[in-house]
Amino acid sequence: MNRLKACGCRTVQAAFRLAIPFLPYRRPECVSSVAELPALLSARGCGRALVVTSPSVAKMAGTRQLLEALEAADIACFVYSGTVPNPTTDTVEEALAVYRRGNCQAIVGVGGGSSLDCAKAVGVRAVLPNRPLSKSKGVLKVRRPLPPLAAVPTTAGTGSEATIAAVITDAKTRDKYAISDFSLIPDYAVLDPSLTATLPPHLTASTGMDALTHAVEAFIGRSTTPDTRKDALTAVKLIFANLERACRDGSDLEARRSMLTASFQAGCAFTKSYVGYVHAVAHSLGGAYDVAHGYTNAVVLPVVLRAYGANIHPQLAQLAQAAGLAAPGADRQAAALSFLGGLEKLKSQCGIGSSIPELCREDIPALARHADREANPLYPVPVLMDAKELENIYEQLL
Ligand SMILES: NC(=O)c1ccc[n+]([C@@H]2O[C@H](COP(=O)([O-])OP(=O)(O)OC[C@H]3O[C@@H](n4cnc5c(N)ncnc54)[C@H](O)[C@@H]3O)[C@@H](O)[C@H]2O)c1
Ligand SMILES: [Fe+2]
Repeated sequence: MNRLKACGCRTVQAAFRLAIPFLPYRRPECVSSVAELPALLSARGCGRALVVTSPSVAKMAGTRQLLEALEAADIACFVYSGTVPNPTTDTVEEALAVYRRGNCQAIVGVGGGSSLDCAKAVGVRAVLPNRPLSKSKGVLKVRRPLPPLAAVPTTAGTGSEATIAAVITDAKTRDKYAISDFSLIPDYAVLDPSLTATLPPHLTASTGMDALTHAVEAFIGRSTTPDTRKDALTAVKLIFANLERACRDGSDLEARRSMLTASFQAGCAFTKSYVGYVHAVAHSLGGAYDVAHGYTNAVVLPVVLRAYGANIHPQLAQLAQAAGLAAPGADRQAAALSFLGGLEKLKSQCGIGSSIPELCREDIPALARHADREANPLYPVPVLMDAKELENIYEQLL
């Protein structure tokens, strides 16, 4: 990247880093069972709640138990179960109609990141009734509190239950964008492992790899804080100890619980400390070819880490120790390389390959420009790359 552009990127990132202590980040209140949620909503005086979920999650026993527990606490439930992967503005409007019909006072998202994001976006529309969702795209456009919001993740990956973002796709243009504001951080996160037990191995693997990528990118970036470093290290430790276990035996609730904790901690880390080029590249590929986000991240992660080279060996050495791949005090370079080796092993244990078969060589320049626009100047990556340099990353994914 040329000096002028690099200087501009680092200046923007420094300004955002300096602002972190003054921004109203907060952590959702966490409970470990769906049975604990009704009391929290009742204490807020909520007697009518919209439950946003997807068709398959609506049929799960855990979701039925949640609805029964809410009804038993005199909270009337109005269910919207039409959320699709990559929820659209149309999905949000349908759910909003149910919220209005039920005269609801609270919103409960139950499902993967798609349902949680749809629930957040309904909250945005509920408090901004005259503004289309696309007008809230970007950072700090909402600027008002949402109705009480609970997130009940049934995948362990996106961390949406802890983040300031909702990712929505425009139904007409297919533009996929984030709405990011502090009011979108849920009030409550229900980390109940029984709800993730039905997740099939390939989704367990790809969503778990998404959480790992959040933790690694937040940790190696230049806008970390003591809190986000701690969260990221905890997440990495838990993922290396539990992801393969959760893929092998979905009913292993200890592994499932650890993965939910890891996803939450990784969410807390990246919502403050950002992601990096792995996500920028994965988003460009997701937009072009409809490939699974977590899977793509897992393929791209080692390629980008190798491209950063020795610049990130100190951080990778710390991650290696957290993951149990290197002893404390081990040689830094050797420890960093053992992290990369451990990552490849985890990927293959989870059935993840090393290429994106859908990728066409002629698309690479446009994809690289897309990733450049997403990441630069905002993401505080350890080594800056422009579109031309990013093309090398895509070449390695062919
Ligand atoms: N808000 C954020 O901070 C944030 C961060 C990262 C990603 N995202 C977004 O999250 C979305 C992806 O979320 P995801 O990876 O969790 O997948 P998802 O929510 O799209 O779910 C994938 C599929 O798994 C099913 N499913 C979910 N839980 C299940 C369970 N326990 N058992 C069986 N099936 C289950 C869903 O019904 C769906 O068909 C994307 O739109 C992405 O952009 C948001
Ligand atoms: Fe992600």
